[in-house]
Amino acid sequence: MKKLLFQLDTDAHPAAFDAVVAYDGGADHVIGHGGVTPDNVGPLVEGAIFTRAPKDKKNTALFIGGSDLMAGQELLKAVKKKFFADFRVSVMLDSNGSNTTAAAGVAKLALSRALQGKKAVVLAGTGPVGKRAAVLLAREGARVSITSRSLSRAEQACQAMKERFGVELTPIEAVDNEARGAAIRDAHIVFATGAAAVKLLESRHWRNNRTLEMMADANATPPLGIDGADMMDRGAERDGKIVWGAIGFGTLKLALHRACIAKLFESNDVILDAEEIFAIAKTMV
Ligand SMILES: NC(=O)c1ccc[n+]([C@@H]2O[C@H](COP(=O)([O-])OP(=O)(O)OC[C@H]3O[C@@H](n4cnc5c(N)ncnc54)[C@H](OP(=O)(O)O)[C@@H]3O)[C@@H](O)[C@H]2O)c1
Repeated sequence: MKKLLFQLDTDAHPAAFDAVVAYDGGADHVIGHGGVTPDNVGPLVEGAIFTRAPKDKKNTALFIGGSDLMAGQELLKAVKKKFFADFRVSVMLDSNGSNTTAAAGVAKLALSRALQGKKAVVLAGTGPVGKRAAVLLAREGARVSITSRSLSRAEQACQAMKERFGVELTPIEAVDNEARGAAIRDAHIVFATGAAAVKLLESRHWRNNRTLEMMADANATPPLGIDGADMMDRGAERDGKIVWGAIGFGTLKLALHRACIAKLFESNDVILDAEEIFAIAKTMV
């Protein structure tokens, strides 16, 4: 029986990246739908849950993607609402690679040093990757702040993650590199999750920072988020800090994404969001 993955994307066009990884993760056929919303997803879910016998349902799965994590979260809610009894299929949420990227980065940081009780700052943490990275760091026991160029965007991000995961995050307004440098002054951990090709910190902001133990940077498009780091860094030591670059932990991110796709086809009742994807990441580091 063919393994079918329905790629439900909240953007107009289903992401090519997610389709490629879906095949590499073991799907035999990927059916992409763009512009999917809670209002129009119903028939797609019904088509997935009513078509195959109970023992065969594990061969159908759903993947939710798109650039808007909040829209993805709402779509996952709507999908789950359609499930009842054994009329369900496995589903994964990874809008903009948010869960797999954050999980891979935080798993590498956790491997390098304990996170419990540490002060962590997620720079430009209002995007999909930053929101999830903040959640995972907080769930590992760190005290986590999110910076944004706008206080209200930082507050909205913290509030949204509190509503979904019950974590307390602290919003910080940091309008430029100087302000972000000040925001990390007494931090132990920095995770830079700014948009591609946006430098968030100069090297002078972190090189002589005595509290700082570890840094990760998700941005692989020059200029990098953290000046003086290298995208290939795999736990490299720089000025006494452990550094993970975007490609350095990106290998795990891709392997994790593929492993999650494979997991969807093991049974028909798996739901993979931040917590579950992070648990899988921890088994792979
Ligand atoms: N390594 C990997 O495997 C992997 C996988 C997926 C994504 N990524 C990378 O991970 C990073 C985060 O992805 P994402 O989708 O979460 O990012 P995003 O939504 O594109 O951007 C994150 C935040 O960056 C801030 N920002 C945008 N332009 C800025 C500017 N000119 N100056 C300062 N801040 C700016 C914005 O925050 P405010 O407006 O609130 O300030 C925005 O919310 C990206 O660099 C992406 O390419 C890496």
